[in-house]
Amino acid sequence: MLADLKDALNVLEFEAAARKAIPPAHFGYLATGVDATVRANREALARIQLRPRRLIDVSKVDMSVELLGTKWETPILLAPVANQRAFHSEGEAGVARAAKQKRTLQVLSTFSSYSVEEVNREGGRPVWFQLYPTSSLAVAERVVKRAEAAGCPVLVLTTDIPAGRNPETQKRFERLDKRQCSSCHGPSMPASSFRRPIFEGLDVAGLVPYNATLTWDYVDRLRRMTRMKLVLKGIVTREDARLCREHGADAIVVSNHGGRAEETGRATIESLPEVLDGAGPALPVLIDGGFRRGADIFKALAFGARAVAIGRPYVWGLGAFGQAGVEKVIDLLQAELRLIMQQCGARSLAQIARQSVTGL
Ligand code: GLV
Repeated sequence: MLADLKDALNVLEFEAAARKAIPPAHFGYLATGVDATVRANREALARIQLRPRRLIDVSKVDMSVELLGTKWETPILLAPVANQRAFHSEGEAGVARAAKQKRTLQVLSTFSSYSVEEVNREGGRPVWFQLYPTSSLAVAERVVKRAEAAGCPVLVLTTDIPAGRNPETQKRFERLDKRQCSSCHGPSMPASSFRRPIFEGLDVAGLVPYNATLTWDYVDRLRRMTRMKLVLKGIVTREDARLCREHGADAIVVSNHGGRAEETGRATIESLPEVLDGAGPALPVLIDGGFRRGADIFKALAFGARAVAIGRPYVWGLGAFGQAGVEKVIDLLQAELRLIMQQCGARSLAQIARQSVTGL
């Protein structure tokens, strides 16, 4: 068990440490997913193999990438994860400080337990803001305006959960948990009682995150509503990727919500090639879902992803060690990615070729 941060060898070790540190019901919330899809994300990555090239000078490696007009020094970004005070009191603010230290892009959930203004202050630059459409257009519009006023340059619309889900793992863990956790919610457990500053001053009685009436009209409406760039997250088919292009999306995130969306059994890495095909050459395609090793990230980049988001790993780091844990998780993945690029003869992300991988 990882007791001291400096002993950490890889990000997988953080899971057990987080499980020990986080109240069981909260850990269950983080872990929950449709089990077969959670597994599929990892198994598909494991099936892909590398085709390393030899005798190339790899003494200098450039991992920088351009994402919607901004240059980042790493293609690894932090996916939106809701309610982060449930994992550590530093929550999204601690993650913002880690992102600042490591010059990493943070995507903030609508259901952040710190306000977007506070997170932007701590991070020193505005986050990308993830939007749950919610059941109310009026609320969504206020949320979008607030994120825009806070300086967020990019809005990331979650498209993959239209009507809720059945979080069995979470419910199982909740049965083990008799603690009353007042740092993020009251004594009754319902998620609706979590702290959600984005809704301050809004009428959110009966509001749910999802919206079963969501269609491409909503995407058009968002386009008209804001000057922020618009990214669609949760796209897994060629057909929808084409529609993203037609409706003026600025980028796509291939995602099955960390295996929390549907019981398809299809890994995001398996969806990536057809999404790239539908998106065409001009639309950047990002991906998340099961990325735990630098080699996993390398594989997605080789298939053509522009960047890779991690979710649970940095939250394990946060839960177990706060900001320092998040920093360590980023460091470990960066070091692994650098090494695997060197192994495969890639001096820059552009040199990570489709031929560098086989087996999908
Ligand atoms: C939030 O996005 C969740 O998956 O719980």
